[in-house]
Amino acid sequence: MTDPTDALRAALSPAILARLQSLRVTDGTAIAVLDASGMDAAARTALEDEVKAALSGRPDVREVRIALTADKVRRRIIAVGSGKGGVGKSTVAANLAVALARAGRKVGLVDADIYGPSQPRLLGSEGVKPQAHDSKMIPVQNRWGVPMLSMGQLIEADKAIAWRGPMAAGALSQLVDANWGAIDTLVVDLPPGTGDVQLTMLQKHKPDGAVIVSTPQDLALIDARRAMQLFEVGQVPIVGMVENMAGYVCPHCNEVSDPFGLGGTEAAAADLGVPFLGRIPLDIAIREASDAGTPPAAGDGPQARAFADLAVRIGAWLDGRQER
Ligand SMILES: Nc1ncnc2c1ncn2[C@@H]1O[C@H](COP(=O)(O)OP(=O)(O)OP(=O)(O)O)[C@@H](O)[C@H]1O
Ligand SMILES: [Mg+2]
Repeated sequence: MTDPTDALRAALSPAILARLQSLRVTDGTAIAVLDASGMDAAARTALEDEVKAALSGRPDVREVRIALTADKVRRRIIAVGSGKGGVGKSTVAANLAVALARAGRKVGLVDADIYGPSQPRLLGSEGVKPQAHDSKMIPVQNRWGVPMLSMGQLIEADKAIAWRGPMAAGALSQLVDANWGAIDTLVVDLPPGTGDVQLTMLQKHKPDGAVIVSTPQDLALIDARRAMQLFEVGQVPIVGMVENMAGYVCPHCNEVSDPFGLGGTEAAAADLGVPFLGRIPLDIAIREASDAGTPPAAGDGPQARAFADLAVRIGAWLDGRQER
């Protein structure tokens, strides 16, 4: 019997074949794993493009997924945290990742929220199960160019509550140590508070920097301070604070009001001596786009602008630091 991937291999150049570690087709999805050791970002992109072009449009192939492996991938982890729940961490994490990708970075997104995973919904890939290769998970692709893995893909929603600390820690490691390929920046959406997942993050996958999201209210700010202390104890540098749900723009009259106060986060950041990274308005368009699985940062409205500005500041912070 001939191997069904033989015809596909024949479509690949010798240079690609030399790097090809595995190739298989499942339900119309071709998954190629390639060794990208020693290649810079441009060469990796060229390799990916070439493989995609060679395999797309072949009979039985509807989608091409590529995973690049390398000896040593230098990848920076940015954790997005908050003390209080519901302040918009997941929204900020998803849109920051999309905005960084739009700015040309190779970004991956980890949804580490075991009790309330949100990223599959925010990126419009609910129900998509990640594949695995050599016991490593392969992130789920989407049209925003931000491969993603979520706790929500590992566990069923109603079972999450029964998970204990060590299980959560193990699951988090599977996501962070997945086959991320040529990703240079991994954005991690943390659950609220200071639980097991946060501790594992600090102990095993120490982030290079933490972005703290808060609303302008005093209570949220007190919790934000607490979250920041956890990172400081873990010696994780604070990239800065983001004020979310600032300034409500009335969709009818365009008047801006401040249901949660204004400028509280900026003042708190100044007080704590950490950078203020920007303000995301409370805007019904952000919630609607998020619920629809179309991240507002991918659009071209004023909402996208706010996230692009955030990405510029965080990108500058990334560029100003030495790789570890
Ligand atoms: N700037 C904004 N404007 C309008 N709605 C927003 C904004 N930011 C977040 N939301 C909405 O607020 C809700 C909570 O946001 P999100 O899930 O991102 O918060 P979270 O901090 O991750 O919550 P949790 O602590 O439960 O993980 C969502 O419905 C989201 O669409
Ligand atoms: Mg969340």
